Amino acid sequence: METSKALEPSPDNAVVWHEDRLYLLDQRYLPERASFLSLDTAAATAQAITDMVVRGAPAIGITAAYGVVLAARDAYRSRGADWRAAIELPLDLLAASRPTAVNLFWAIERMKHSMKGLGEQDPVPALLKEALAIHAEDRAANRTIGELGAALIEGPTDVITHCNAGALATGGYGTALGVIRSAHSAGCIGRVYADETRPWMQGSRLTAWELLHSGIPVTVQTDSAAAGLMATGRIGWVIVGSDRIAANGDVANKIGTYALAVLARYHGIGFMVAAPTSTIDMCLESGADIPIEERDAGEVLACGGSRIGPEGVAARNPVFDVTPASLVSLIVTERGVVETPTAVKMRALMG
Ligand code: MRU
Repeated sequence: METSKALEPSPDNAVVWHEDRLYLLDQRYLPERASFLSLDTAAATAQAITDMVVRGAPAIGITAAYGVVLAARDAYRSRGADWRAAIELPLDLLAASRPTAVNLFWAIERMKHSMKGLGEQDPVPALLKEALAIHAEDRAANRTIGELGAALIEGPTDVITHCNAGALATGGYGTALGVIRSAHSAGCIGRVYADETRPWMQGSRLTAWELLHSGIPVTVQTDSAAAGLMATGRIGWVIVGSDRIAANGDVANKIGTYALAVLARYHGIGFMVAAPTSTIDMCLESGADIPIEERDAGEVLACGGSRIGPEGVAARNPVFDVTPASLVSLIVTERGVVETPTAVKMRALMG
């Protein structure tokens, strides 16, 4: 692959392994600037996840998998056959980068599992193969999720989405936006209303950019405009992604998702969650057990670099919330669709 092609900034090219380095499309500066940040250590990769250079549950998992490759490379360079002694610390850094998206821990565990079969030789080729497989499997899963979800949408209808669950948040194609892309190709989507998603503005900065790129009609609205829009009767579905789904079908996603689910139920609108099975955490009984990340108050008290709250005021900044399974109409995964999720149905899905 030529450098120019490999590092072409586009929504479907957000996480790239190229010539022994990891490149992340820097999502902090989209849509004004589309540029890659190049990384060659696990510590720098962990910092990039914490700093939101890359975000979205599956994309964080894929990035962490490549981070494990970088950790292994450094460990083998410094300790040779004894590389295992040097790999734990960087892996801990990756695991501490963000707490809510379970894909991060899932990917690190999968990489650790493939380390088990390795001897004293250079671990990089085998681990890189595994990271590339995680990446490719996520892309494939999103295509399947897109088809399964789109088949359930009668249209054309307008939909609301929240945050960014698109190609940028995954290995490519997207989960919620994957469903929307497939449904749009099938002629079932009129317009997408993208909640701007305070405070990081993933909706207005990233989802709008992605949908425009795909030629899908999109309108950005403030988060609080969703209720009034639903009341017009124009909205057929709310379609969102997830960062972690508990064993009973409770769904953690971007802050504000729970409010949308309550509104959707009140207005008789379907609430679809699109996520790969790597987002399902069967170890947690319910959403009450999901760790919710709380970020710096400054993110709420500033916007576009300008302060929007008085000096000295406190601010809450929980960045995810939990939607109870009872408000979820469908969970669409690559293994199939769960209607009105319960613990029994989730167990059946996950085998
Ligand atoms: O804080 P973020 O931007 O990482 O939050 C991302 C979300 O909440 C997404 O909706 C979720 O990860 C699904 S991504 C396919």
